[in-house]
Amino acid sequence: MNVLVTGGVGFIGRWVVDYLLRDGHNVWILDDLSNGKTVNIQRMLRDKGKMVHFIKGDIKDLRIVHHLFANSFDICFHLAASINVQDSIDRPRVTFENDVIGTFNILELCKKNQVKFVFMSTCMVYEQAWNEEGIRETNPVKPASPYAGSKLAAENMVLSYHYAYGLPATILRPFNTYGPYQKTGGEGGVVAIFLKNKLAGRPLKIYGDGTQTRDLLYVEDCARFVVEAGYSDKVNGEIIHAGSGKDISIHDLANLMVDESQIKHVPHIHPQSEVPKLLCDYSKAKEILNWKPNYTLEEGITKTEEWMKSTTLM
Ligand SMILES: NC(=O)c1ccc[n+]([C@@H]2O[C@H](COP(=O)([O-])OP(=O)(O)OC[C@H]3O[C@@H](n4cnc5c(N)ncnc54)[C@H](O)[C@@H]3O)[C@@H](O)[C@H]2O)c1
Repeated sequence: MNVLVTGGVGFIGRWVVDYLLRDGHNVWILDDLSNGKTVNIQRMLRDKGKMVHFIKGDIKDLRIVHHLFANSFDICFHLAASINVQDSIDRPRVTFENDVIGTFNILELCKKNQVKFVFMSTCMVYEQAWNEEGIRETNPVKPASPYAGSKLAAENMVLSYHYAYGLPATILRPFNTYGPYQKTGGEGGVVAIFLKNKLAGRPLKIYGDGTQTRDLLYVEDCARFVVEAGYSDKVNGEIIHAGSGKDISIHDLANLMVDESQIKHVPHIHPQSEVPKLLCDYSKAKEILNWKPNYTLEEGITKTEEWMKSTTLM
């Protein structure tokens, strides 16, 4: 197949591209390099150069997007986005323009060319998990930040294109994803940030009391979920999420990596946008896609730490 991956040199995108290439597809990547790097796909460019086409460009640039869709795509995986919650609070327009208007541009072209659209949303749209059974796709949502608000707005546009125009489209809400190639600054990469500080011998800083929990998904499990959703017709018109099925408090996560003496609590930068408990019930993904995570948190952390020790890419 001919496949488009927007945001394809970013953290999750580069794993999605890797997976698609291993499955033998021709992959086009559109990325403006605002947060991704082409070195993230260096090995793919070297080994499978004829199958990978990298285009540096912005999803908001209609000229580039129109031109790109001359390539008769079968599936579009739309991952390009502004991803930082704090940035979205500080500069909501940037997040809105990238995550809503940018998504609209790609969606329009998918409609025009009848390309299956896989939209990468996020678990940050959920209000919170209320019990130990975890969050289901039908749980209430709460746009606690402009990032979550923009993702929900874009989700609604994607669903409207499915209902109004019959576009084969799927909404994915992966839980917090971690693993090799994730950046170690900013937000969203709690595992990467903690490991970087651990390796540098610096204390691990926790926002607030550290009782907030996350369901941490290893990136190769996330990429497999994304790609399988792209291949399946059964998920069209569906919202579907993936996580490990276990949550861990940020304090316990830090304790998995270092001694108590190396942990420091600092005031939260955006307590009003914090989700107190995130725990995924992935039974829908299991039922429809036969997906389940392959990596435990301990295995994923070990793989991430080994990668960090072996690379200069962080
Ligand atoms: N990391 C997570 O824990 C997580 C969890 C759930 C969902 N997501 C979603 O998955 C997607 C990928 O996230 P990630 O963690 O890999 O982030 P990332 O920042 O590494 O990847 C996003 C990529 O999009 C590119 N990009 C941003 N704005 C663009 C624009 N206007 N035009 C073209 N390219 C643009 C960036 O350069 C980057 O390479 C995002 O949509 C994010 O919201 C991430």
